[in-house]
Amino acid sequence: MLYSPVPTIPAAELAGALLAALRAPGEQRTKFRELVRAYLGREAVDFCCARAALEHILRRLEVRRVVMPAFLCPELAEVLLKLGVRPVFVDVHRGTLNISPEGVQEVISRGDALLAVHTFGNPCQLTALTELASDAEAHLIEDCAHALGARYRGMPVGTFGRYSVFSMYKLLPTPSGGFLCASEGVDEPPAGAPALGHLLRLPYVTREVHPLLLRLRRGGGGGYATGRCSPIDLSIFNRLFPRIEELTLRRRRFAEALASELSGYEVQRVERDARSSWQSLAVLLPEESSPPQVAAHLRRRGVVAHRTWHDTIILHPGMRRYAPGEYPVTLEVSRRILTLPVQPHYTHRDARAIAEAFEASLSA
Ligand SMILES: Cc1ncc(COP(=O)(O)O)c(C=O)c1O
Repeated sequence: MLYSPVPTIPAAELAGALLAALRAPGEQRTKFRELVRAYLGREAVDFCCARAALEHILRRLEVRRVVMPAFLCPELAEVLLKLGVRPVFVDVHRGTLNISPEGVQEVISRGDALLAVHTFGNPCQLTALTELASDAEAHLIEDCAHALGARYRGMPVGTFGRYSVFSMYKLLPTPSGGFLCASEGVDEPPAGAPALGHLLRLPYVTREVHPLLLRLRRGGGGGYATGRCSPIDLSIFNRLFPRIEELTLRRRRFAEALASELSGYEVQRVERDARSSWQSLAVLLPEESSPPQVAAHLRRRGVVAHRTWHDTIILHPGMRRYAPGEYPVTLEVSRRILTLPVQPHYTHRDARAIAEAFEASLSA
């Protein structure tokens, strides 16, 4: 068994989604919108990824500064550099790995955007952040790239901010895809032709082929596309999104089993009043261990664990001049982080197998 963070789909189910996309490509977008409207109560515009959605809304808002967590994926730096928007970084809480509202309060001002990131699917403190944004007359944008299926105080994330951006492919087995939601309407760019590169990722999400391709694949290139989704992304999304509650509960059951197997270690703590989407399970490695070596050992034992954001955004060469402050928690967490795969079809037995591989890799 190979454990991987990439959501996969059995070939037979994928074939059904592909047929639907070929037979009725135009209907996929309409259905996607209906599904998101029913779930979030908001209109959605699809994009090929969350970065494209974020770029679109930052452009429309014409903001000059974005307040955001210092512990964050470095790829978002590309969006900021492209638009010439200035980031204002805030350190994160050690247990939850989410932005600190106290830190936000110190820096936020009128006209800013506040990017509320739900790190690894763990909803951030939305009540406090909504209030801070409203008091400062700032725009609250939820970054739900990891958080499809997560809830805060019973409400789906993505319904608190005036705007929210989602990735599809981090929780569902689409080759790519993301979307933008807005509490009021949002203008949309023309649909255009889907990028061929995205379709080439189809074998990668096929459950039977995935382990094979994973062995061959080397890291992705830089840059991101800014177009819309393909009918194939939309068709796979439409097939699986109606099951998002069940899929999230299964992820949760597995993640809690894995966390309890790893009870001697520091794992990400879910915020109060929140339900995570459990995109992955983040664990901080003991100080004395070497994260690249542990990740390599785990890989040899069939567990694909990533040092997610060890190269966090404040370390990006284009961002360093915007990170003059001290971010002790971010720097420590990015040094020690490892994210373990969580999938809805994994069982308690898989949790034990991953935990055993983890222990063995630490002492290797
Ligand atoms: C928190 C967060 N937001 C946004 C993004 C961008 O997502 P996408 O790859 O869909 O553009 C990422 C990328 O990994 C992310 O981790």
